[in-house]
Amino acid sequence: MSKNRVVLAYSGGLDTSVAIGWIGEHTGAEVIAVSVDVGQGGEDLQAIRQKALDCGAVESYVADARDEFAEEYCIPALKANGMYQGTYPLVSALSRPLIVKHLVRAARQFGADTMAHGCTGKGNDQVRFEVSLTSMAPDLKAVSPIRDFALSRDVSIEYAEKHALPIETTKHNPFSIDQNLWGRAIETGFLEDLWNAPTKDIYNYTDDPAFPPIPDEIIITFDKGVPVAIDGVTMTPRGIIEELNRRGGAQGIGRIDMVEDRLVGIKSREIYEAPGATILIAAHQAMEQVTLERDQARFKRSVEQRWSELVYEGHWFSPLRHSLDAFIEDTQAYVSGDIRMQLHGGRAVVNGRKSETGLYDFGLATYDSADTYNQGAARGFIEIFGLQAKLAAARNVKFGKGIEVGESTL
Ligand code: ARG
Repeated sequence: MSKNRVVLAYSGGLDTSVAIGWIGEHTGAEVIAVSVDVGQGGEDLQAIRQKALDCGAVESYVADARDEFAEEYCIPALKANGMYQGTYPLVSALSRPLIVKHLVRAARQFGADTMAHGCTGKGNDQVRFEVSLTSMAPDLKAVSPIRDFALSRDVSIEYAEKHALPIETTKHNPFSIDQNLWGRAIETGFLEDLWNAPTKDIYNYTDDPAFPPIPDEIIITFDKGVPVAIDGVTMTPRGIIEELNRRGGAQGIGRIDMVEDRLVGIKSREIYEAPGATILIAAHQAMEQVTLERDQARFKRSVEQRWSELVYEGHWFSPLRHSLDAFIEDTQAYVSGDIRMQLHGGRAVVNGRKSETGLYDFGLATYDSADTYNQGAARGFIEIFGLQAKLAAARNVKFGKGIEVGESTL
């Protein structure tokens, strides 16, 4: 009888390398390692592929998904101005559904019936992996060696040494790090004491904003909500994000230090650095200020919040996200034009906007002689707009409850 097969989300690090053999020992299954490049940098895919095979995987599936991640995950997040708790640009939350898509593809290709991931039982990522799996392939099972088969860090080190796995076990990194094109997340270690400030060495995408180079001026061109050019040079979404990570990173833009409400109920200290995402969201919001109609803009803000919560909580493939995306997409029809920004010392500040499709009307806005606004009409408008206040005030006075303004002190 042939063995069952498991597809494992494989990073090339200690835990998932050990997991290959550990899953085999605990389930008797063969392991297929799956590595997805979402712009995390580090080792190249072929080196990771070989490492998985050296650690005992029967097959190794690798995919360069950087463009797919940029176009189908980061761009929708940008159109939604996606920020959990108004602060976190959803870095890890965005990559998980895409990684699972590739895990499912590999499972179908190699005949696996189970997906495995290297998440603990305390975080959001386990939920994202498994809920995404349920949405895409409800017939597949999920396991986590760390959570379900007690694969602790100490056990991993011991196992890797005993089996002489080609993995570095000595270098002790106290942090749990996840990174991709949209940003980088750093947690645990001394950061678990909320009073401890982050030290310089934890950052990698950004330089210290306290010692910035000279200001960098940048023009981002949007077409229907999608950034399409920088300083007049047309680029792919991935190219734009990479360029802004580089230029924004040099100015120390996009460092975030927050206490986050995890889905499992824990509050956790999180440090992020997301220079490209921070710049793009600020620019996109500025483009929307010029181009969205007022009520559409107001309503969109509540949609953005719900969208961000859904994605944070692992419901990327949900019907609701699909429906919200249809609304968001509709709002983007006129979000086109140029945004000029100054990048300097940790800040990305918008200082110019231009749009052929905007609603800004100079004649209506100006206080100079070119004024086309009908000032006289404002009187009647205010009379009707304030009518309810007038009625309420009259009633309050009648019952002795008029709003107290106090005695003049002059
Ligand atoms: N707290 C963030 C989130 O839930 C980041 C998780 C990062 N994962 C990690 N292994 N460090 O999206």
